[in-house]
Amino acid sequence: MNDKINLVQQQLQKIRRQIDQHNYHYYVLDDPVVSDAQYDKLFRELQQIERDYPQLIIPESPTQRVGASPLTAFSQITHVVPMLSLGNAFEDTEVEAFDRRVCEGLAVDNVEYAVEPKFDGLAVSLCYENGIFKTGATRGDGNTGEDITLNLRTIKSIPLHLAGNNIPSLLEVRGEVLMLKADFNLLNQRQRDKCEKIFANPRNAAAGSLRQLDPAVTATRNLAFFAYGIGRVNINTDAEEISMDKHSDVMAYLMSLHFPVAKERKVVTGSQALLAYYQEIGSLRDDLPYDIDGVVYKVNLLSQQEKLGFVSRAPRFAIAHKFPAQEAMTKVLDIDVQVGRTGALTPVARLDSVFVGGVTLTNATLHNADEIKRKDVRIGDTVIVHRAGDVIPEVVSVVLAQRPAQTKSFIMPTNCPVCGAKAVRLAGEAVSRCTGGLFCPAQQKQAIIHFVSRRAMDIEGLGDKLVEQLVDNAIVRTPADLYKLGISALTGLERLAEKSAANILAAIEKSKQTTLARFIYALGIRNVGETTAKGLALYYGSLDRLVAADTENLQLVPDIGPIVAQSIVDFFAESHNREVIEQMRLSGVCWQEHNGQPLPITVETAVSGKIFVLTGTLHTMSREDAKAKIEGQGGKVTNSVSKKTNYVVVGTDPGSKYDKALDLGITILDEDGLQGLLQ
Ligand code: IVH
Repeated sequence: MNDKINLVQQQLQKIRRQIDQHNYHYYVLDDPVVSDAQYDKLFRELQQIERDYPQLIIPESPTQRVGASPLTAFSQITHVVPMLSLGNAFEDTEVEAFDRRVCEGLAVDNVEYAVEPKFDGLAVSLCYENGIFKTGATRGDGNTGEDITLNLRTIKSIPLHLAGNNIPSLLEVRGEVLMLKADFNLLNQRQRDKCEKIFANPRNAAAGSLRQLDPAVTATRNLAFFAYGIGRVNINTDAEEISMDKHSDVMAYLMSLHFPVAKERKVVTGSQALLAYYQEIGSLRDDLPYDIDGVVYKVNLLSQQEKLGFVSRAPRFAIAHKFPAQEAMTKVLDIDVQVGRTGALTPVARLDSVFVGGVTLTNATLHNADEIKRKDVRIGDTVIVHRAGDVIPEVVSVVLAQRPAQTKSFIMPTNCPVCGAKAVRLAGEAVSRCTGGLFCPAQQKQAIIHFVSRRAMDIEGLGDKLVEQLVDNAIVRTPADLYKLGISALTGLERLAEKSAANILAAIEKSKQTTLARFIYALGIRNVGETTAKGLALYYGSLDRLVAADTENLQLVPDIGPIVAQSIVDFFAESHNREVIEQMRLSGVCWQEHNGQPLPITVETAVSGKIFVLTGTLHTMSREDAKAKIEGQGGKVTNSVSKKTNYVVVGTDPGSKYDKALDLGITILDEDGLQGLLQ
């Protein structure tokens, strides 16, 4: 029996070592060596054996990270070696002064420093006895912290059992617990979905998660740990020689024990190298997976550290060189609503100017109505604003304790603040949009650029730059103004020769003869793309009938649901849009209409309901023409071949779609074959 138990014991040890190793590769090295499925299999195997032999479960088993019952309060832990803080430097001159003090204190000309990122998380201390994680504590006041062992055990990058041959009899590791930016975003998304508290930044999220009395909650929070030093260590005398003369040796030793350490650490000499490191990490800051609030410079030789000693509560041998804060507190003076190029209404907080992230901010986005409501930002509030790198500055949260009396909730306007058209918010969308697409000054350029584009009115030569010039010079305000242009207006523009101007006017003239589908598409109605425009043209046959349609009627058109229908109704409900259309018709923009009742699109053709894929170059018609003809007769053209495809039309030099069609046994047509199907 004992033999059997011994065998199981050995097997357990082997699996636990393997799992520890996989955890190390996954959570510390970020370089997994087995698939998730293989890992899960191994983990389940361990769980099964432990279920069969519960007497063999040990606290440092990988299965034992979570499982303890919630606490009622944290107990206190006294730090044998106090956890001190660091002096701060903000300016280069302060760093130079620090280096001078260090050199003078040591009576040397230059000093070697270990340099590292300064993690923006929470300091913790982890105690290991004979390689087993025993207790973990917060920094607290530096002398006594809270016992958060159970929560720390849930952090997968913290080893419960040290690896390697140099296991110390006692080890106290110091480091920082934080939440990676990606995990923070996921957590807030999850919290938002559950209508629960949103965290202002990864640091607060990490703090909130670490202070949970129920370790099961902490376990769901994906916290990370990075070691930056040792509080106490007793290395076994029989262990092989470990060099521990420098801080960089200490870090290498921690790495050998499988603790995560910052990849970005370095050893440099002299103050100019410190400043260069600050710049280097500063430029990486936004791309790092975690928040940092500066860099830390530490005299590398431990004997020199000892010689320099401490002043009050901070070491003389180290300093934190801080980055400009990315968050600051300020007051909301007003809330404006801006209208973007696509008509989206964005509320923006006008701020009492504040220095944050290295620049002075005077405004910050509030995103949309839901975000304002969720954060309940009001005019007069004191708020926390955030600015990082290229990211748009935003209001993170309100400091409710400082809210003045008699503030009112902000209500999004129901009309566009730029043109006065109705602003609507479609189901499923977060933003309200101005419906004055054709005449709203905020949307002019975008609307005209779309209107003249190849698939819309196809006005050749009228590029984006030219449209911008026409709008900026107030020559054109709406697409209807294009049809009123004379040669002198164009030649008056920068870098436009008479010949080109004449060509553009000719292209504008030519565009007047169009199709109803192109015209509908050119209007730029939200959610109405080319295919929808074609469907509408086919169904209604006349613009007037389309303008008169209500949402119910619109939904009789194939593929049009309530959201698209509402966009169309909103667009035509705006009288200014109708006016612009009327002006264009008066200028001669026209198309063929079919009168009477809507075209019965249920008419069966050889093509109706069939799915086509086009590949290779067609010669008797362009691909677009082929597509239009197929769709005009009730067929559909898609981009990829699948089992649902009915026909693949093959021109010269077909692509892989042809091979796939052969593979799947789909009917292949050449151009003649397609013409034969089309009526
Ligand atoms: S060394 C004597 N290294 O900064 C203190 N601290 O202001 C030695 N911190 O509470 C600390 N990253 O939580 C050190 N690479 C790093 C650090 C770091 C972040 C925090 C630490 C400490 C605070 C000191």
